[in-house]
Amino acid sequence: MLSRGLKRILSFTAIVFVISLVYFIYVYLAYPKVPERETFLTEMGEGFGEIGLWLLLFIYGRTLLKILIGKGKIAHRLLPDYHPTLDLPLLEKLLVFLNRTHVYVGITAVAVILLHIAMMGVPMRIMFFPAVLALVIWQGLFGLFLSWRYSPTELKKFSYLVHAQFVTGIMIGIFALFGHLLIDD
Ligand code: HEM
Repeated sequence: MLSRGLKRILSFTAIVFVISLVYFIYVYLAYPKVPERETFLTEMGEGFGEIGLWLLLFIYGRTLLKILIGKGKIAHRLLPDYHPTLDLPLLEKLLVFLNRTHVYVGITAVAVILLHIAMMGVPMRIMFFPAVLALVIWQGLFGLFLSWRYSPTELKKFSYLVHAQFVTGIMIGIFALFGHLLIDD
C-alpha cells in the first residue's frame, strides 16, 4: 500500500499536470506561436538552461538518495514502513558530500536559472514562465533563511516546511516542460 504522503504527492502531481495541460491547450490555441530567436545571447542562455536542469536533477537526486537510505524527515514521511537493510558506506559518504555542497549547488542552480530566463527573453504573458521564476526565487529565498545563522527559530521552521519538500519541484518541472513545449518546435 502507498503511504499517505506518497499518495498526496502523486495526487498533487496529477492535479497540477491536468490543470497545466488545459492551460497549455488554451495558450496553444489562443496565442500566436512564440518564434525561437537565435542570437548570441539566446545561444548562451540555452547553455544556462541545460546546466540549470542538470543542477536541479542533482539536487533532487540527493533527496532521492536520502529516501533510498531511509534518512531524514522526508524519507520517514513518504515511506514510514521502509527500513532499508542496505549498508553501503560509499552511498553514505556520497550523501555527506551532497549535504555539504547543497547550499552552493542550490545557489548556483537559482543563479543559472535566473540567467537563463533573463537571456532567453521569455514571454511572461504565458503564465508558466512567471510561475517558474517565482518558484525558483521562493526555493532560493527560503533556502537562504534556512541556512542563515541569524534566522529566528520560527522563520527557520517555516523555511524548512516550505523549502524541504517536493511540491515546488513538481510545479517547476511541469510548468517548465509545458512552457518549453510552447516555444520549441
Ligand atoms: C533551486 C534551488 C533549490 C532546490 C530545488 C532545493 C531543494 C531542497 C530540498 C528538496 C531539500 C530537502 C532535502 C532533504 O531533506 O532531503 C532541501 C534542503 C535544504 N536546502 Fe535546499 N534547495 C535549493 C536551494 C537552496 C539554497 C539556495 C539554499 C541556501 C542558501 C538551500 C539550503 C537548504 C538547507 C539548509 C536544507 C536543509 C538541510 C539539508 O537537507 O541539507 N537550498 N533543499
